[in-house]
Amino acid sequence: MTTTILPVYFLILFCIYLKPQAIAQNENQFIYNGFHGSRLHLDGVAEIHPNGLLQLTNTTKQEAGHAFYPVKLNTSSRNLSFSTYFVFAMVPELPNLGGHGLAFTVSPVMNFAQALPSSYLGILNSSNNGNDSNHLLAVEFDTAKSPEFNDINNNHVGIDFNSLTSNASAPVTYYSTSERISKILPMISGKPIQVWIDYDKGENLLNVRVAPIQIPKPELSLLSTRINLSSILLDSMYVGFSAATGAIATSHYILGWSFSRNGQAKNLELSKLPSIPRKKNPSEKPSLELTISLIAVAVSLIFTVAGIVYYVRRKKYEEIREDWEQEYGPRRFSYQDLYKATKGFKDKGLLGTGGFGKVYKGVLPSSKEQVAVKKVSHDSNQGMKEFVAEISSMGRIGHRNLVKLLGYSRRKGELLLVYEYMPNGSLDKFLFTNEKPNLNWSQRYRILRGVASALMYLHEEWEQVVLHRDVKASNVLLDADLNGQLSDFGLARLYDHGKNPQTTHVVGTIGYIAPELTRTGKATKSTDVFAFGAFLLEVACGRRPIEPQASPEEMFLVDWVLESWKQGAILETSDPRLGGYYSADEMSLVLKLGLLCSHAKAASRPSMRQVVQYLDGAALLPERLLDGATVNNEASVEFVMSVPSSFEKISVDSVSSSESILYRGR
Ligand SMILES: *[C@@H]1O[C@H](CO)[C@@H](O)[C@H](O)[C@H]1NC(C)=O
Ligand SMILES: *[C@@H]1O[C@H](CO)[C@@H](O)[C@H](O)[C@H]1NC(C)=O
Ligand SMILES: *[C@@H]1O[C@H](CO)[C@@H](O)[C@H](O)[C@H]1NC(C)=O
Ligand SMILES: *[C@@H]1O[C@H](CO)[C@@H](O)[C@H](O)[C@H]1NC(C)=O
Ligand SMILES: *[C@@H]1O[C@H](CO)[C@@H](O)[C@H](O)[C@H]1NC(C)=O
Ligand SMILES: *[C@@H]1O[C@H](CO)[C@@H](O)[C@H](O)[C@H]1NC(C)=O
Ligand SMILES: *[C@@H]1O[C@H](CO)[C@@H](O)[C@H](O)[C@H]1NC(C)=O
Repeated sequence: MTTTILPVYFLILFCIYLKPQAIAQNENQFIYNGFHGSRLHLDGVAEIHPNGLLQLTNTTKQEAGHAFYPVKLNTSSRNLSFSTYFVFAMVPELPNLGGHGLAFTVSPVMNFAQALPSSYLGILNSSNNGNDSNHLLAVEFDTAKSPEFNDINNNHVGIDFNSLTSNASAPVTYYSTSERISKILPMISGKPIQVWIDYDKGENLLNVRVAPIQIPKPELSLLSTRINLSSILLDSMYVGFSAATGAIATSHYILGWSFSRNGQAKNLELSKLPSIPRKKNPSEKPSLELTISLIAVAVSLIFTVAGIVYYVRRKKYEEIREDWEQEYGPRRFSYQDLYKATKGFKDKGLLGTGGFGKVYKGVLPSSKEQVAVKKVSHDSNQGMKEFVAEISSMGRIGHRNLVKLLGYSRRKGELLLVYEYMPNGSLDKFLFTNEKPNLNWSQRYRILRGVASALMYLHEEWEQVVLHRDVKASNVLLDADLNGQLSDFGLARLYDHGKNPQTTHVVGTIGYIAPELTRTGKATKSTDVFAFGAFLLEVACGRRPIEPQASPEEMFLVDWVLESWKQGAILETSDPRLGGYYSADEMSLVLKLGLLCSHAKAASRPSMRQVVQYLDGAALLPERLLDGATVNNEASVEFVMSVPSSFEKISVDSVSSSESILYRGR
C-alpha cells in the first residue's frame, strides 16, 4: 500500500509547496501574490514561510529584517515614475503595544548591517540619519511615537527623505464609504492592510493611500507630497521593505507585493495571498505546526489502522507527572478526567479566550461538579516547579470574591487550570454589550465593593503579597447571584511580603497600565490600584477606558471624568443605561475614587484598604487630594506607545525629564 501511495503523496506535496505563486516578473514590473520562488534578497531576521508569507521580523526584541528587489530607474527620463501596491500585517506581542514599524524603502544599497532597529526602523543609524548622501526614500508605517524624530503619534504613516524625521506624516485613517466618515485604522490590529504608493515625475507628486483589506483603492490620498525625487533616486536602486522591533516587539508581515516602474502597479489576487499564522503561544516554534501535520500524515499512511488507534488512544490522555508533584496531590487532576469533562475541549464548550489561553466549560465525571478549564501554554519544564507551587498555594487562597482555583493538570507544553464555574460570565458583557441584561446601580456597587475587598485580601491579608496585574471588567466574573468574582491569576506572580517585586515584562491592558509601570516595568500594589481606578470608572460610566470612536474630549475616560468634575458636572458621566436611577452620593464617590486611584503619581493613590473603607463609608474621601490629579491619560497612553523607542535610550537621569510629559497640562 505504502509503495503506491507515498509517491503520490509526495507529488501532491510537491505541487502544493512548489507551485510558483509569482507571475509576470520582468525589469519593469513584478507581482508577488505570496513570495514563493521570489527573487528577493533577505537579511536580518526576515524569512519566507512555507505558505509564501514574507515575515520581516518576529517578536525578538531589537531586531531588524529586510527584503529587497533590484530595479533600474531611469532618472534622466522625463517621465520617471513608479507605482507599488502591497499588503502588510502587524501582529504585536503585547496587545495594543506597537514595536516598532515597517518602511517601504528605496535605496541605492541593500546592506543595512550598520543600521539600528527600534526607532531607526532598520534603515539608518545615528551617524547617517539626515545625510543627503544616503539617497534614501522611505515611507514609514510607524507604530510607536518616537519624540526624537517628531513623530505625531503611535499609528502614523510618514514620508522620509534620508532621515527618520518625516517630511510629511499623517495618522493612519481610511474613509469608510458606507459610513461616510474617516476612521482610524489601527495598524497593529493583526489584520491585513493595503497600501498604494505612486510617484509621478510629471506632477512631482508622491501619493500614499491606505485601506483595510477588501476595500478598493481610495480616490483620496492619505498623504500627498510634492517632491522632485531626481535628487534622491539614482539609476540603480533597490526597492523593498525594512522592519524593526524595539524593547517591545511586533511581528511584521508582507503578504503580497506588486511593483511597476511605469504605469500603475498591477492588482494583487487577494484570495491567493498567504495567511498570517494565528497568534502563537511563546513556547511554540513557528514551523512546529507544519512539522506536526507532515509527521501526522506520514504516520497515518505508514502505520496500520490498528497502530493508529493504539497511538491515538495512548497520546490522547498523555500527561506529565513528576516526583515533586506528589506533594500537590489533591490539586492534581488527571488529563483524562478533564478531557472527558470538557467533551474533548470542543469549541462548543468554549467559554472565552483570554490573554493566556482558551477557557472551556466542563462537568467533572466523578462529582458532576461544573468547572471552567483554562488551557495555558507554557515553556517545557522551565520554572514549572515554581509555577505549580504558586498555583497550588493560590488554590489555598480563599475569598468570597475570588474565583476559586480547584487544581491543575499538565501535559507537554500545556498547563490546565481548573476553576469553579461562574454561570453569569464576565462583567464586561453586561456593561458593554446588549447580550446580557443591564445591571442596576446597587448590583454594580456590590460588585465594586466585592472586587475591592478581594484585591485588598490579595495585597494585604494573605500570607504573601499577590499582585493581580490585570484588573479590568473582563476579568471580573459574576456568580449565580451576580456577585463579582475576580478571576485570572494567569498574570499574577507571588511575592513574599517585604521583598522587592521584580518583573520582566510589562503586562496588563492598555488603559489600565499605570504610567510608572511602562517606565520601570515593575508591577506594584499601586499599579493594581491604578487599574482598579479604571475599573471603577468603567462600571460607573458603562464604557471602556479608551474609546477611539468617541469625540476627542470623551475618548479617554479618565480625562473626561476629570474635566467634568472640574466643571462641577461629574454625574453627567454616569452610565446613561442607568437612566438616572442611582444614589448620587455613591455615584459621585465611585467616580472621584476612580480619579484618585488613577492618579499619575503612585504615591497619591490610596491603598486597597483605604479604597474599601471609602466604599464602605467607613472613611470620607478627601477631595483635596484630587486637586493635583491632572492625570492626562492621553499623554501617558502616548508615552506608553513611545516606550519602545525611548525606553532603551532613557537613562536613569533622563527618566525624570520624560516623566514631566505625564503631568503636562492640556
Ligand atoms: C526570530 O527569528 C530568529 C531567526 O530566525 C530566531 O533565532 C528567533 O528565535 C526568533 N524569535 C522568536 C521569538 O520566534
Ligand atoms: C532613459 O531615458 C532617456 C530619456 O528618455 C533615454 O534616452 C534613455 O535611453 C533611457 N535609458 C534607459 C536605460 O532606459
Ligand atoms: C551608520 O551606517 C553607515 C552606513 O551603513 C556606516 O558607514 C556607519 O559606520 C554607521 N555608523 C554607526 C555609528 O554605526
Ligand atoms: C554624509 O555622508 C558622507 C558619506 O558617507 C560623509 O562623507 C559626510 O561627511 C556625511 N555628512 C555629514 C554631515 O555627516
Ligand atoms: C525635508 O525636510 C527637511 C527638514 O524640514 C528639509 O531640510 C528638506 O529639504 C526636506 N526635503 C525635501 C525633499 O523636501
Ligand atoms: C528636478 O530636479 C532636477 C535636478 O535636481 C531638475 O533637473 C529637474 O528640472 C527638476 N524637475 C522638476 C519637474 O522640477
Ligand atoms: C514615458 O511616457 C511616455 C508617454 O507618456 C510613454 O510612452 C513611455 O513608455 C514612458 N517611458 C517610461 C520609461 O516610463
